Amino acid sequence: MSARILDGVAIAGEIKQELAGKVSAAKDKGYTPGLAVVLVGDVAASQIYVRSKIKTCGELGIYSELHTPPSTVTTEELLDLVAQLNLRDEIDGILIQLPLPDHVDTSKLLEAVDPRKDVDGFHPINAGRLLSGAPKSEVLAPCTPAGIMEVLERSGIPVAGQRAVVLGRSNIVGKPIAAMLINASATVTVCHSKTKGIADYTREADILVAAIGRSGFVTADMVRPGATIIDVGINRITGEAEFEKFFSADQARREGFLKRGSTIIGDVDPAAFAISSAYTPVPGGVGALTIAMLMSNTVKAAAMRRA
Ligand code: GUN
Repeated sequence: MSARILDGVAIAGEIKQELAGKVSAAKDKGYTPGLAVVLVGDVAASQIYVRSKIKTCGELGIYSELHTPPSTVTTEELLDLVAQLNLRDEIDGILIQLPLPDHVDTSKLLEAVDPRKDVDGFHPINAGRLLSGAPKSEVLAPCTPAGIMEVLERSGIPVAGQRAVVLGRSNIVGKPIAAMLINASATVTVCHSKTKGIADYTREADILVAAIGRSGFVTADMVRPGATIIDVGINRITGEAEFEKFFSADQARREGFLKRGSTIIGDVDPAAFAISSAYTPVPGGVGALTIAMLMSNTVKAAAMRRA
């Protein structure tokens, strides 16, 4: 049986449609959900992500504003900006695009965001609520893991009682997705760069979440046939040898690679997808959900502050 592709773009489209209705209902009640995005410096990838976030706000009728301090900005100046945004009633969500320059104290800044406006779910209060198993409707949870749970739910993939293995222990993806899977009654193992014999764990997984940032790290021999694979990796490859290693049989992809001189691959080798029962592709998988969930958190934060 061939593997089912879990179409993140289609699922994100469904979520955005539902949100447009909620935004319109909020406007009928007299308020417009609002998001402030802080983009420090000129990291090209961050600029692309932020542009996409602002554009999606526009599509859904969410108010947005962009703050772009230079890379020389100090932690104190950023703390002042966050303090002003915390006070403004029309701002429901504050997103500080990461990574920040090395001289900025990222933890201090993330902790300065009003937890009620923390649409990234990075504040320790929200991380703690998530760990405590608070109901989904009452928690601002990190967007990428929240998107993964939406994909599983909306695709009818069972989680309760399943063995889930998470590769990666970042605060943005690995740790929160482990918490969410535990809350959904999966049995969860978290592996990382220091884990010995990683394949012994991955081969046991009914649900395998790869979030380590290494192109094609998960190979077919590491996957149990019939598993569900969620690929969170976004790795750019530019070398022809690496392209051939992963995509030698893919003519359509070759044309794109030759035109752009690069392509994107996740943490999973396409040969591993082939033996799964279902998988999220890269691109077109969980990436599309991250922005939809940011919008969802903004609408949720606006409603919760007014409840
Ligand atoms: N950089 C990469 N992913 C994210 C994210 O989810 N939120 C923020 N704020 N920055 C990021």
